[in-house]
Amino acid sequence: MKICTAIDAMRAASRAARRDGKCLGFLPTMGALHDGHLSLVRAAKSQCHVVAVSIFVNPTQFGPSEDFTKYPRSFERDCDLLQNEGVDFLFAPSLEEMYPPDAISWVTVEGLSNRLCGQSRPGHFRGVTTVVAKLFHIVEPDLAFFGQKDAAQVAVIRRMVRDLDFPVQIVVCPIIREPDGLAMSSRNVYLNPQQRQSALALSRALREIAKLFQSGERNAGNLIDAGKTVLADEPAVRLDYLEVVDPDSLEPREEITRTALSAIAAFVGTTRLIDNVLLEP
Ligand code: PAJ
Repeated sequence: MKICTAIDAMRAASRAARRDGKCLGFLPTMGALHDGHLSLVRAAKSQCHVVAVSIFVNPTQFGPSEDFTKYPRSFERDCDLLQNEGVDFLFAPSLEEMYPPDAISWVTVEGLSNRLCGQSRPGHFRGVTTVVAKLFHIVEPDLAFFGQKDAAQVAVIRRMVRDLDFPVQIVVCPIIREPDGLAMSSRNVYLNPQQRQSALALSRALREIAKLFQSGERNAGNLIDAGKTVLADEPAVRLDYLEVVDPDSLEPREEITRTALSAIAAFVGTTRLIDNVLLEP
């Protein structure tokens, strides 16, 4: 695996790799890799000739009181994991390489960026779309892989790619969970054993919603109420949002007649967790 820390080196490497018509797959990450990330690597490996991964803890997507400085970093271990998966290129730029101190340009997907996580984390999606746009320009992938775990991020990135004509195809991969249902996340390491137990309420609430939906309930309000009832049994979980929305526009749905997204965000202690389920009639 070739590790590039400079933008020019990464761009040269990926252009050379694509030269003979080879398909380049790319997945951006913030490191602290787990099986969720590795599932994206495997999907990319199975669909592309060459695979590039980036590790960059992107400061612009963290709010001033969020966990940028304490975000878990495990670069050596991440490199071993990616090497074992047969990744060809790792792009691991420094902060200075990615953001010149006088950078003043942003990529914003208006409206969509203020829904779900964007509502409770102002500026978050502007940071995400800006860094992903930069990474797409640097790596120039044919296919880019994202996890359904961050469903709102998927909607925002898809919209950016469509609106701004990025020549890349977005591939979305399913949520990878721990055996007990907790969605894998780099932030799960923040949870102590008791909080780890409480955190199961998120996936439990979504399972309850999915079960009710499967039994024929199509009213979003009733589905949300059922999820909230599950959460009420777990006082250590402080709900940020539980919504049923359109998966593309992220607008709230009332009656579900086509695929909808039920998404949750909640704090367990100071750790913010997210999860979601697609409801497909
Ligand atoms: P990060 O949280 O490291 O996630 C990188 C990718 O892994 C994202 O596409 C995310 O959806 C996916 N992922 C995380 N947990 C997953 C799980 N349990 N199952 C499946 N996929 C999972 O998302 C980001 O980084 C950043 O916002 C980034 C796109 C890199 C921009 O900075």
